[in-house]
Amino acid sequence: MESLNPILMPLLKLTHLISGVFWVGTIAFLTLVLEPHYRKQGRNVLRNQMTSILPIMGPFLLGATLLTISSGTVMIFLLGKSWWASPNGQMIIFGGSAAILAFLVGDIWVRIERNKLRDYGKQLAILTLEGTPPGPEESDRVKRLEDRLWFLGRLNFAILLVALSSMSIARYL
Ligand code: HEM
Repeated sequence: MESLNPILMPLLKLTHLISGVFWVGTIAFLTLVLEPHYRKQGRNVLRNQMTSILPIMGPFLLGATLLTISSGTVMIFLLGKSWWASPNGQMIIFGGSAAILAFLVGDIWVRIERNKLRDYGKQLAILTLEGTPPGPEESDRVKRLEDRLWFLGRLNFAILLVALSSMSIARYL
């Protein structure tokens, strides 16, 4: 392993751990506590609560995600070629790739599905104003879109657990 900068590396690792804790902690809280709590109170409560939380939470979560990924990527480059080939390095790179996949699922894919849901909601509102309120078919489509969002949320959490586990055990390999 190349000699590491004694100030930059600890600073990067500290940034990485604090932002990573915020990222995984927020998703864990949403998936394990908040969503089941509101789901018990009904689909409408869940929808309203999540719609009010997301705009506040979103920017913080995105910031923490980007900070975790960027600090991790810089560390990988600083750690150098011989580290990349070591079992420890390979496990960290595997965990980092899982975290990036979680970002793609939990942010990009979820954003696409949320936009679809929002556009469909607008379409239904216009139809309602024109005197055609949504029927069972339209309600089913809304349910399907929402269920896909909750599924993606759980998938995101599961992939994050893989990333966190790999990062945590890597140094013992
Ligand atoms: C879910 C997000 C992530 C979490 C919770 C997380 C967590 C951790 C933890 C706990 C460590 C400390 C391991 C140790 O010292 O024993 C660590 C180190 C590290 N992580 Fe992550 N990480 C995440 C994402 C990433 C990503 C996306 C990358 C790179 C693209 C990355 C690259 C690294 C590197 C290079 C180290 C330092 C390894 C070393 O000093 O030997 N991590 N991470």
